[in-house]
Amino acid sequence: MKKTILTGLRPTGNLHLGHLFGAGQNYIKLQDDYDFYLEIADVQALTDNFNNPEKVRKNVTEITIDLLSIGLDPNKVNFFIQSKIPEIAELTVFYSNLVTVARLERNPTVKTEIAQKKELFGNNGESITYGFLGYPVSQAADITTFDGEVVPVGEDQLPLLEQCREIVRKFNSIYGETLKEPNAILSDAKRVKGLDGNDKMGKSLGNAIFLNDTEETIKKKIMAAVTDPEKIKKDDPANPEVCMVYYYHNLVNTKENKEKVCSECKKGSRGCVQCKKELIEAMNDFLKPIKEKRSYYENHPEEVKEILDNGTKKAQEKAKEQMKKVKKAMMIDY
Ligand code: TRP
Ligand code: SF4
Repeated sequence: MKKTILTGLRPTGNLHLGHLFGAGQNYIKLQDDYDFYLEIADVQALTDNFNNPEKVRKNVTEITIDLLSIGLDPNKVNFFIQSKIPEIAELTVFYSNLVTVARLERNPTVKTEIAQKKELFGNNGESITYGFLGYPVSQAADITTFDGEVVPVGEDQLPLLEQCREIVRKFNSIYGETLKEPNAILSDAKRVKGLDGNDKMGKSLGNAIFLNDTEETIKKKIMAAVTDPEKIKKDDPANPEVCMVYYYHNLVNTKENKEKVCSECKKGSRGCVQCKKELIEAMNDFLKPIKEKRSYYENHPEEVKEILDNGTKKAQEKAKEQMKKVKKAMMIDY
């Protein structure tokens, strides 16, 4: 019997290189060995986008296409839409009795996010909604609805996993051994730096290359990338280690070319403009197969729909079974 993986993504934007080298490639490795449920977390996305339903709706399809384009196999991964699984919402209500408001307010992930969303939740989080404060509870329901044993998440999500484990222990201690305690595995062990040299590539940081960026956009972004600030003239020797252009050559170019860039940069026999042009080409080559797959799915929306429908059906079956167990344990199985 394969173990179950459950993970989720908020459909709020397209995937970028940071997602690909972090979570994406990790999912691709895991998909062979686990019973894999991948939740497109539209309900969670609405907790901080309740005033922008079009954005969430559009990105459910977009993110599914991104994930298929990087090589997730719909025969191995059950893609499903959170809002199509009412059991998750039901479980969230049951679990909400098992967690204090103070504990949610102390959750480091929630605290950070509230601070980042001043426009929505006020300068001191005074306008925080009930729904957003409670999303860790809902995420615990996401995981346990599917008996998720292994949960690949980014480091920033670890406090949410801990909160889930606490809820599971509390549930089991009151209602009897029913739920499995999930284990996190880090899915973003490989962090990708931004074009600006920031330690993290992020959509909101404005320093990302998206998998579906056009060639024109990629050109603009790479031409503006941060290079060795000490290099003024074309033939000044420089230090590739502090240059983002070299950093990306390393990610997407061949070994041979990388070495060439490195040694020519150090010698001063390479100009930054030429170096960027070569990176643009290498980046386009790297993204080409991903974009080809994307364009296939864009032209076959019925296939994308079918993949989501099939995955969601599987998820619904599993959720029904789990709900029976939970209701029996809670003595509400009328
Ligand atoms: N909160 C996660 C994120 O923002 C997305 C998510 C939703 C998730 N449900 C999940 C992650 C369940 C792991 C398990 O990245
Ligand atoms: Fe960076 Fe290339 Fe310029 Fe060296 S030559 S500083 S690697 S852009």
